[in-house]
Amino acid sequence: MAIKGKTIVVVGGGSGIGKAIAVKSAAAGADVIISSRNVAKLEAAVTELRAGSALPLDMTDAGSLASWADALPDVDHLVISASSAAHGRFSDLPEDSLRGMFDAKFFGPYATAKAALNKLNKNGSITLFSGVLSRRPGLNCSGLGAVNGAIEALTRGLALELGPDLRVNCLSPGMVRSEAYAGMERETREAMYEATGESLPIGRVGDVEEVAEAALFLMENTYTTGIVLDVDGGHMIRQYAKR
Ligand SMILES: NC(=O)c1ccc[n+]([C@@H]2O[C@H](COP(=O)([O-])OP(=O)(O)OC[C@H]3O[C@@H](n4cnc5c(N)ncnc54)[C@H](OP(=O)(O)O)[C@@H]3O)[C@@H](O)[C@H]2O)c1
Repeated sequence: MAIKGKTIVVVGGGSGIGKAIAVKSAAAGADVIISSRNVAKLEAAVTELRAGSALPLDMTDAGSLASWADALPDVDHLVISASSAAHGRFSDLPEDSLRGMFDAKFFGPYATAKAALNKLNKNGSITLFSGVLSRRPGLNCSGLGAVNGAIEALTRGLALELGPDLRVNCLSPGMVRSEAYAGMERETREAMYEATGESLPIGRVGDVEEVAEAALFLMENTYTTGIVLDVDGGHMIRQYAKR
């Protein structure tokens, strides 16, 4: 099913993978609404899309969710790429940081999908986001891996419960260059990209556009539901030792 003329909401569409999904969807002729907290960032992204509109949302705030859902038109596809992450050793990471991460990356998308449910058109879809750490853990990332695993389990449960009216899938990116790493020093960030890229069969980390292509597939393919789609440069079979 082509997305031309469809209404697509991308929560997290102000930056990174979400913005790339919004750009590709708008270019394919969809009506795109992007949502996240920072209004200035959203407005700048809308200018980049050259189409579409912004509808601010904080997924962790019940009042914000209620007014966001009220303002939504009927929607064909809901994509939720918004999240935040916390890293730290099991022995050191404060439990509050992990609870905050579950609030932002699990309960946020959970509540957002629920709030939008009555606005979702039959034959539409929901796309959630996890990440490679659920099944291929990294040091100091056990908490983030657990959140990703929870999202993947939620995806399968919702696909069963909301079908046949709606399809529900999960996209699991590997490391891609995005604003998610903007807080790191440039040199440290590039070294991380380099080291991760070397361990992957593809030999490099990814770009947001490569993940966005997969998101469009999940919206368009009418026989795909309940899956976790890995777009990760082969991260699941990565070699930690240098080649
Ligand atoms: N990039 C990677 O290497 C990578 C790897 C594995 C998995 N992933 C997953 O892929 C997804 C997208 O990642 P990304 O790289 O595109 O991240 P990103 O560039 O940091 O974008 C995340 C977006 O989420 C929004 N956001 C955060 N908290 C929010 C909240 N409470 N309510 C509404 N919006 C909120 C942020 O905007 P505001 O600050 O304006 O709200 C931002 O636009 C995430 O689920 C991430 O965990 C990414």
